[in-house]
Amino acid sequence: MTVTETPAPTGSELIDLTDVDLFVGGGHTAAFARLRAESPIHWNEGADGSRFWALTRYDDVMWAYRNHEVFGSARGAIVGGSFRSDEDTSAGRMLVSTDLPRHRMLKQAIHPAMTSGVAKRVAKRVAGLLDGALARALQDGGCDFAADVATELPAGALMEIMGIGHQDAHHLIGLTRRMVGYRDEIFVDTGGNERLRLAWLQAEVFEFFADILADRRATPGEDLVSMLLGAEVNGRRLTEEEIFYNCMNVAVGGNETSSYTACTGLLALMDHPEQYERLLEQPETVGTAVEEMLRWSSTNAYVQRVVERETERGGVVFKPGDSVTLWNYSANRDEDVFPDGHLFDTMRSPNRHLSYGAGLHRCIGAPVAQAELALLFERFAAEGLRFRLAGEVRRLRSNFILGVTRLPVEVV
Ligand code: HEM
Repeated sequence: MTVTETPAPTGSELIDLTDVDLFVGGGHTAAFARLRAESPIHWNEGADGSRFWALTRYDDVMWAYRNHEVFGSARGAIVGGSFRSDEDTSAGRMLVSTDLPRHRMLKQAIHPAMTSGVAKRVAKRVAGLLDGALARALQDGGCDFAADVATELPAGALMEIMGIGHQDAHHLIGLTRRMVGYRDEIFVDTGGNERLRLAWLQAEVFEFFADILADRRATPGEDLVSMLLGAEVNGRRLTEEEIFYNCMNVAVGGNETSSYTACTGLLALMDHPEQYERLLEQPETVGTAVEEMLRWSSTNAYVQRVVERETERGGVVFKPGDSVTLWNYSANRDEDVFPDGHLFDTMRSPNRHLSYGAGLHRCIGAPVAQAELALLFERFAAEGLRFRLAGEVRRLRSNFILGVTRLPVEVV
């Protein structure tokens, strides 16, 4: 079944990838198809003042991911003047905005909190939380899947990784949701200066971790904060600020992405009833179905890099300091790599999507996310859970994280 897509603006030069309405309205899918065909390495002049290259073909995106010495991460993953900047204070401190060689050492410090053993514990925890959330949905005949069920995935992950309780986990999810939704009026007051708003939101997250840090100093545990307290990077302990940044990286990296992917995945299943039925009848297809949901949703739509050394590709010269965006969403629909990429197909194989990124910074939380998503949809198959859309879907106002903030469903 094909999916209705809003037409793209005519002429690739008219496409502005900073235009959140393009994404919220669904026009981005066609816009990217046009860019891949007409202007695969596109110079985007955003209405918000940002200027950047947009790579939209799979091979170009992969090329940039692999050339991490040319395309650095130290200016943060998000473009748009206001989120991170030239003076980004997270550079060299937070994993995702750190280049080699320090990136390797930081990753070693964080990795023990993201192993397959941890992923198993997360799955067990999430299973317990889903027992309650799904039982309530069944009893009530439906729910807002986005708020009532999907958020239990990151809640279970945070409980295991950070060693916190259920209530604190949801409090932290609320804080990171506001950070990621910093342009969405349902999460924040969108008036005033964006940079100040973000600084304030970040301070709230740091404050949350400051309390945990004090507690772990007194009583160390097996959690990420305790691990980072004991870790040495380049022969010295991490500062408190470095610990906060990396806890925030894990929380922001994991909270919205996995729950939004679950929502977009369920939405796709409801849009494709024959594939929903196949998943219920053939639970062994959950693995390929989850991969397809990851590709389809491309929840982390792009990442940013900044050119460190002059380089050339496709007749375009990238100059040091240029901002370059790698569009996972578009690469994941590139017909050269994904035949019928515009179709949702839970049996798709191979499926080498870039939803977790690639290369040096490829998502460190992928085993955890896989465990959460597989568990959820295995549960659907085991219990024959059939949901149908029961109201208006609301999308997050963002071009960076593509998410569904309200997904009313009823049990059928
Ligand atoms: C469906 C779920 C997820 C998606 C789509 C996703 C996506 C991504 C992407 C695209 C990157 C690469 C960033 C870059 O190259 O600049 C990344 C990195 C990262 N992710 Fe995830 N992520 C998911 C789940 C998680 C989870 C569950 C966690 C933690 C519990 C997490 C933590 C991180 C961290 C810490 C990084 C930085 C890695 C590095 O710089 O080396 N992510 N993620």
